[in-house]
Amino acid sequence: MTTLRLGVFEILTPSNGVPTWRHPAGRAYRYDQVSYWTGLARTLDDAGFDFLFFADSYGYPIVDGVVPEEVMTHGILFPGYDPMLLVSAASQAAPGLGIVVTSSTSLEQPFPTARRFATLDQFTNGHIGWNIVTGSTAQVTEGLFGITHADHDRRYDIADEFVDLCRTLWEDGWDDGAVVRDREADMLIDPSRVHEIAYRGTHFSSHGLFKVPPGPQRTPVLFQAGASGRGRDFGARNAEAMFIQGQNKEQALTASRDIRARVAAAGRDPHDMRLLSGVTVTVAPTSEEAHRKRRELEELFSMDDAAVLFAGFTGIDLRGLDPAMRIEDVAGTDQGRTPLDRYRTVSGVETVRDVLEAFRVQERGFVVTGSPREVAEELVETAEFSDIDGYMLEPTFGDDGAYREFIDLVLPELVRMGARPRETDRALTLRERLGFPAGAPRFRPS
Ligand SMILES: Cc1cc2nc3c(=O)[nH]c(=O)nc-3n(C[C@H](O)[C@H](O)[C@H](O)COP(=O)(O)O)c2cc1C
Repeated sequence: MTTLRLGVFEILTPSNGVPTWRHPAGRAYRYDQVSYWTGLARTLDDAGFDFLFFADSYGYPIVDGVVPEEVMTHGILFPGYDPMLLVSAASQAAPGLGIVVTSSTSLEQPFPTARRFATLDQFTNGHIGWNIVTGSTAQVTEGLFGITHADHDRRYDIADEFVDLCRTLWEDGWDDGAVVRDREADMLIDPSRVHEIAYRGTHFSSHGLFKVPPGPQRTPVLFQAGASGRGRDFGARNAEAMFIQGQNKEQALTASRDIRARVAAAGRDPHDMRLLSGVTVTVAPTSEEAHRKRRELEELFSMDDAAVLFAGFTGIDLRGLDPAMRIEDVAGTDQGRTPLDRYRTVSGVETVRDVLEAFRVQERGFVVTGSPREVAEELVETAEFSDIDGYMLEPTFGDDGAYREFIDLVLPELVRMGARPRETDRALTLRERLGFPAGAPRFRPS
């Protein structure tokens, strides 16, 4: 049996998706403490998880120019801190754990982005990953940043070049062995092995030296989550791991076939791409107890809160629409075409009301509820059926309790089934942990 890759989906906000801040297992009193995150990282590393993922956005839910009251009263994607500043601390606490941070190609600049990730590759000893995102709302680009908002496909054209330039800085600026540190020879760095970059593109250019020596991975492991055709082509060209939001096995299979075909079209082995789906696991010693906990969780998430969160992710205010309206009649937004698309193929989801209910209970991927064995078997069976490589676990009530339960109850079952290794080697880089050879990626898009 192949190994399931396992990560955890986090976000530096008071609750993660479902607004659970008042629940005893919420984390609203701890999410702003570094110690909470270093503790979580250590727990995951000790259990052998492959990575901790931080989603990020400068924005917040806004509907028709107004911030809905629930955003602040219920802490929906608000407030929020910068996860990149946590990475070094988390990595010190969890030296074997991959840490994946999100950074935007529409809002940042390639040169400082390359510098940050090269630094983090060194500081994490080869455990850093970059979740490349292009999406943002005009509220963020034009409002918060005061820059021009490019449309969806053009953002990906810009992103292709952004990543090309970063890769050039990481891969071409320094030869192996350039860091000599030879006191006798009075040579710290060998100048003949450090090269000027001369990059001139349509959107970006850079001439000169890149000051950061290569870390163990050189290029961070590149993650992406395109759902549109253009987004998936970008991922197929650049990424080593892509996220899908599996709603059911059939839909996940359709997504994985589509992405792997695009990977092949980009001249790569279609299985040189790790496909990972979000999953919310609610597990308890018995199936009944697990289902009771799951009902408790769903009751915490009102339709109104779900609508605000949905608007935050997609820019679409479903609350302002007739609940009986059919989804094909809802106009997408530039930010949010694909989030609605993903419901178009789910049976039983036909109206605005159905989308909200589906989103409320199945916000970000598979929902798996049951006894330890039931959960483990469903995870393995779903991955095999839909040809995906693993999962990113979502928290349930907010704090790290869901992961601890998973570690105590489900992991031993997965190990028993041969779907997770008994021991993990902390010296492996994130790229190796995902089953790729050491060092930089083998492919270099043309
Ligand atoms: C698991 C997952 C995590 C994501 N994380 C972020 C994020 O942190 N920030 C962000 O702006 N978008 C995030 N996205 C959105 C994607 O980057 C992408 O824009 C979205 O899936 C729509 O695809 P498209 O850009 O091809 O239309 C995430 C999507 C998924 C499925």
